[in-house]
Amino acid sequence: MNFDENINRYNTNSLKYDFKSAKNKPNNVFPMWVADMDFKCCEEILEDMHKKIEHGIFGYSKEDEEYFKSIQKWYINNFNIKLKKDWLITTPGVVFALATAVKTLTLENDYVIINNPVYYPFTEVIEDNKRKVISSDLVLKDNHYEIDFIDLENKIKQYDVKLYLLCSPHNPVGRVWRKDELDKIVEICKKYNVYIVSDEIHSDFVWSGKHISMLNYEDYQNNIILCTAPTKTFNLAGLQVSNIFIPNEKIRKEFQLQVWNTGYSLINIMGLTACKSAYEKGQKWLNELKKYLFDNINYVDNFLKKNLPKIKLIYPEGTYLLWLDFNDLNLSDDKIEELMLNDAKLWLDSGKIFGKKGTGFQRLNIALPRQKLKWAMEQLEKTFKEY
Ligand SMILES: Cc1ncc(COP(=O)(O)O)c(C=O)c1O
Repeated sequence: MNFDENINRYNTNSLKYDFKSAKNKPNNVFPMWVADMDFKCCEEILEDMHKKIEHGIFGYSKEDEEYFKSIQKWYINNFNIKLKKDWLITTPGVVFALATAVKTLTLENDYVIINNPVYYPFTEVIEDNKRKVISSDLVLKDNHYEIDFIDLENKIKQYDVKLYLLCSPHNPVGRVWRKDELDKIVEICKKYNVYIVSDEIHSDFVWSGKHISMLNYEDYQNNIILCTAPTKTFNLAGLQVSNIFIPNEKIRKEFQLQVWNTGYSLINIMGLTACKSAYEKGQKWLNELKKYLFDNINYVDNFLKKNLPKIKLIYPEGTYLLWLDFNDLNLSDDKIEELMLNDAKLWLDSGKIFGKKGTGFQRLNIALPRQKLKWAMEQLEKTFKEY
């Protein structure tokens, strides 16, 4: 576990490193945007994948009892929820599952509610499937985002919303929803019969508070789809494996049909192998990783306070994605973008892609070796200190 190791990711088909010109970015920028990590995944996972490779046969594969047990144990140990095997449907990614849930639970032109600023594929999967987005925007108060429950309820009522895509923990604002907030969400959704699709892909990265899974609401389980994956936690995004849990049998069957209708039916064997290995053997590695990431977050926090106090970190309760507020600099998004790419030579995600409320923000991925992070922060300082 050497998170300081600098690993060259160029020429590895990496979306983050190798497709700059395809994404209209200069070739000399350092990428800190998409949410994968610049760390090697844990040795135990690699060993199990090597064994699979040595076996040499990669025929059609399917998840079994052992695969499920590994996930079940992780969720009992870490989140105190007892998942059932019947509830599980595997998909090649959480975004795929979000799109499938939208198709399963709503009709064309229906409104689906989200909380902007939020992970931008939430909007895409709604609009690409000819549904309409309604956002109950999060409210920023004293460097901290909250849900406006009055607005949430009003919009659910006004737009006859039947589906809520919840990001928990929330990317990009880093909130880990408290129990009283989740209680309120469930109370409102119950009142108006709203299904909740809870994207909990970041639940293993919690720095303060406690992640509470939506499936902890047992009396509302029939209206919940839980989206999970080992891919953020263990840096396996390219293996395209995610585990979706749907207690309601009728919805599960409809969801399964929607999945089959795309032509996808069987899990990728390397994804299966890595997922099982991660949940069975990865806890120790994850504990070490979390310490390293937490130190990275605090490094950025201290650096900004000391050297760039006008750029404010919305200090995260969860996730390794930092939401930086540039609004005090009074620069347009275009100007921030131009300075970031051409002067700082850093490629972050521009806040505006997460919805209008993201104007003046940038999202910074800090899952990389400290030395590189230090260099990036110095680049930021050199570029923005004069503003
Ligand atoms: C909230 C959230 N959901 C889903 C994903 C992507 O999931 P997948 O790669 O499994 O589609 C991300 C990746 O950043 C994310 O932040």
